[in-house]
Amino acid sequence: MTDIAVLLSETRSFPPPADFQRQAHVRDRGLHDSATADPIHYWAEQAKSLTWRTPWTQVLDWQPPHAKWFTGGTLNVAENCLDRHLAGPRRNKAAIVWEGEPGDRRTLTYWELAREVRAFANVLKSLGVRKGDRVGIYLPLIPEAAVAMLACARIGAIHSVVFGGFSPESLRDRMNDAQAKVVITADGGYRRGQIVPLKRNTDKALEECPSVQHVVVVQRRAAGPITEAHVDMREGRDHWYHRLMQHAPDACAPEPMDAEDVLFILYTSGTTGKPKGIVHTTGGYLVGAASSARMVFDLKEEDVFWCTADVGWITGHTYLVYGPLANGATCVMYEGAPDWPERDRFWQLVARHGVTILYTAPTAIRAFMKWGVEHPRKHDLSSLRLLGSVGEPINPEAWMWYHEHIGGARCPIVDTWWQTETGGIVISPLPGLTATKPGSATQPLPGYSVQLLTQQGEPIPTGGGLLSITRPWPSMLRTIWGDDRRYVETYFSKWAGRPDLYFAGDGAKRDEDGYWWILGRVDDVLNVAGHRIGTMEVESALVEHPAVAEAAVVGKTHELKGQSVCAFVTLRDGHQKSSALREELREFVAQKIGALARPDDVLFSADLPKTRSGKIMRRLLRDIAEGRALGDTTTLADPNVVNALKEQYADSEG
Ligand code: PRX
Repeated sequence: MTDIAVLLSETRSFPPPADFQRQAHVRDRGLHDSATADPIHYWAEQAKSLTWRTPWTQVLDWQPPHAKWFTGGTLNVAENCLDRHLAGPRRNKAAIVWEGEPGDRRTLTYWELAREVRAFANVLKSLGVRKGDRVGIYLPLIPEAAVAMLACARIGAIHSVVFGGFSPESLRDRMNDAQAKVVITADGGYRRGQIVPLKRNTDKALEECPSVQHVVVVQRRAAGPITEAHVDMREGRDHWYHRLMQHAPDACAPEPMDAEDVLFILYTSGTTGKPKGIVHTTGGYLVGAASSARMVFDLKEEDVFWCTADVGWITGHTYLVYGPLANGATCVMYEGAPDWPERDRFWQLVARHGVTILYTAPTAIRAFMKWGVEHPRKHDLSSLRLLGSVGEPINPEAWMWYHEHIGGARCPIVDTWWQTETGGIVISPLPGLTATKPGSATQPLPGYSVQLLTQQGEPIPTGGGLLSITRPWPSMLRTIWGDDRRYVETYFSKWAGRPDLYFAGDGAKRDEDGYWWILGRVDDVLNVAGHRIGTMEVESALVEHPAVAEAAVVGKTHELKGQSVCAFVTLRDGHQKSSALREELREFVAQKIGALARPDDVLFSADLPKTRSGKIMRRLLRDIAEGRALGDTTTLADPNVVNALKEQYADSEG
């Protein structure tokens, strides 16, 4: 708990600019007050903005720790995101404005997107996909990713998107856990000018995925050097997307889904080596996504909303696809890296498309800071009216830079705290109402009840503690796919006898004004560039290498990424430490999990610091990695181990 006790001393405060406030959807505290007085009524009101096929009979059925929202109600997510916009003036409005990394561009209107989704829904049906079947999506960030998600939603299939940067083994494990029937991929995608070989990765993954019967391949590199002929298509199993779509009928009625039917599974890291399949359902998820997108981003008809996240993460699900489309908004989607071909690519995109709302991550903001203000200065960013941040704590310095150099000191910033598990934003400013403080996510949104608790579960009004959500919310996860016990143990067993208290895994601080400051994970989960990586996942990968006897992984503060992966490794007899082996192990992890998990540091050690009962003392490894004085070492079995490690670490730094 010592980290949690670190109190920030930020005193700057920024009230909403008058111009912004005047036009904002939410301008007074009335909404907060009424939501607090009667949260059930509040959520029922929010739900009324969606199109329901049959109305719900009960708003909430809460049997802690299992919640059902809007029971008895039926609706279809694709109908809510598409069909209901087609009757009015949004019919020809841009839904997705897309840019590929090489510079290719496409715009899909609501009408065009709806047609594409209906046709692809029929393609899925023709491949034998039925309601409740699982479909894997392993694509670059191209419009077909949204089409595939919405097509699944239309027919009631459950999608599981896997980030295109994940390795074949990661894809394999997820597809097997979900027992997917079909995988949708592409011949390749672009990242920093390189081609990511998604189809080849898929082929490798599917060598050990017996449940997968069909693969649909989007031709991303049509204009590039590799054509159809160069992609290995397996007869009977693999099908080109464009060929299937040529003959697909474009009429497909949306399947009426029960509010509690599963919409998607999204895998995320936990404290064990095995990723968790977070399960989100239909009605509650969409209520949370649509209402938070509208309120937090103050979405208006004319807005051009750019959420820079990939669809492989929850941010891409909720604020690139479902939330904005349910509101009939125009979304910008960009496939590639922010520094390709030059470091001003983001600002070029903002200017070219007239982006009004930009939602990105602190790791990107810190990179922009480092690259220098000359890059944003080259472009006209005056279309921007609101900025957002997500994924990790934003340091006040980066917040101020974002405010000044991107927002021109006129745009409010919404620092949004949430998780894969929460489905949507939980703590965030409302930009027309909340005075912001750099580095603070400010306050819970209306309808959410969040508390700071001690390890024993006592509430802490101000100071540091563990973040808990104390009442169920519509877009909460419902379970972990195939492992409800793990759901109960991970999220609702922190405080004995209180299965109603959700444990987020984050430490936080609450100041005298009731503002929340998120301090990061309190469990063995790292946050690298806004992405969650379990220390156990990296450790499990390392010990699979024939040279490795034992491994312990900790997070280390990193200037740009927030945290980087630091691995301590002991070798098997007969193996010698060397810089070549160090490189080999870093690459090995990247191959096993994906480049995002590649350790920055690999330290070889004859032994690891352990307690007398044999538990690795990660706390001491963190001290060593951060180069700070060691904490309490009295429980160590062999105190010499840490001294040797410290010396070695000092050497490696030099
Ligand atoms: O530690 C918190 C951090 O990211 C974790 C959730 O990661 P994930 O499920 O991948 O979702 C990321 C996008 C919602 C949280 O437990 N986190 C997320 N947003 C913030 C944050 N930490 C501080 N401030 C935030 N705004």
